[in-house]
Amino acid sequence: MTKHLFTPIKLGRLSLDHRVAMAPLTRSRAGQPGNVPTDMNVEYYRQRASAALIVSEATQISQQGQGYAWTPGIHTEEQIEGWRAVSNAVHEEGGRIFLQLWHVGRVSHPVFQPGGGLPVAPTAMPVPGKTFILDENGNGAWGDVPVPQELTVEGIREIVADYRRAARNAMAAGMDGIEIHAGNGYLLDQFINSSSNHRRDSYGGSIENRARLLLEVVAAVSEEVGSQNVAVRLTPMGRFMGMGDEAPEATFGYIVRKLNDYALAYLHLVEPAMVGVVKDENFDPRWDAIMKLLRDAYTGVLMLAGGYDRDTAEQAIASGRADIVAFGRPFIANPDLPARLRDGHPLNPADTSSFFGGDATGYIDYPALS
Ligand code: FNR
Repeated sequence: MTKHLFTPIKLGRLSLDHRVAMAPLTRSRAGQPGNVPTDMNVEYYRQRASAALIVSEATQISQQGQGYAWTPGIHTEEQIEGWRAVSNAVHEEGGRIFLQLWHVGRVSHPVFQPGGGLPVAPTAMPVPGKTFILDENGNGAWGDVPVPQELTVEGIREIVADYRRAARNAMAAGMDGIEIHAGNGYLLDQFINSSSNHRRDSYGGSIENRARLLLEVVAAVSEEVGSQNVAVRLTPMGRFMGMGDEAPEATFGYIVRKLNDYALAYLHLVEPAMVGVVKDENFDPRWDAIMKLLRDAYTGVLMLAGGYDRDTAEQAIASGRADIVAFGRPFIANPDLPARLRDGHPLNPADTSSFFGGDATGYIDYPALS
């Protein structure tokens, strides 16, 4: 039987009614001080609870893991309480939510780091570009990303322990599971890609070594909360934040085959042709082949994201390219996106100027169909 967007699916412990998921979306509106989810954040997620599964905005596992102003964390008691209010609201509406766990690595600034120190990375190489920081008065400002410090093996062990604690905290906050953010040029991706990892120890060099940190994190959080409650997001061939790998088929093929050893809830891949948030049909022609290779290599539930609309999502599910599709920007602007897709209603356009930071405008005021 051909599957479609509104065919139910089982994902880990969860039985989902349909396959329209909400992609992780940083909105930079956590409460200050402390990066704690607020009542406004609760309302935002409540409005979107008709998603088959919500993947939360990226959430730092530690103070060291923060790289942008006003992003939420999951490493303090207040943050756990804040997220509990979010998960309760989503569950009251019959929804499901995974918390996306984030460590930015070198994409940070001393204003966020414990003791004002340097951000950490596999190798002391800066990412070209700026990050959105806080100035002395607590206002948002663009700041240069400094040369990071190379992580010691002891520092790497502490980060694995931070992931483990964050996963435990997420489950204590009532989440249905966690998604490990291993894409978009952040810490785990910095280890994976040969462009940003020039280490000579057991965490650099070979593909096995560059994948080691991700796989240690997967093992640790799986042991902590059960692998059926764990997912991984990867951005193979991604170029955001200075990424690039000398052999992406081999690197990501290896990782995906290794992930088969864990009965994860799902694997989440972003279409490589998404360059930032623009789809480039002329992207490196290997991108389509790599997605087929990874689909064939992975034995579990595969979630895809990146530039999907109703028709392309239906095609992806019908052809087996994806088992479930995550929508990002369409979910920002359409809190009731699944109903609109099901019934063929037009979509509200998203206002990009209110994506990051600000108040309720462009956040919880997008209209649902009455
Ligand atoms: C994103 N994206 C993203 N990805 C991620 O893994 N964690 C995150 O926190 C964010 N934050 C984020 C914020 C905003 C405002 C945008 C637009 C995007 C990427 C996102 O999950 C998705 O992959 C892309 O938006 C492409 O999907 P759409 O928007 O074409 O459906």
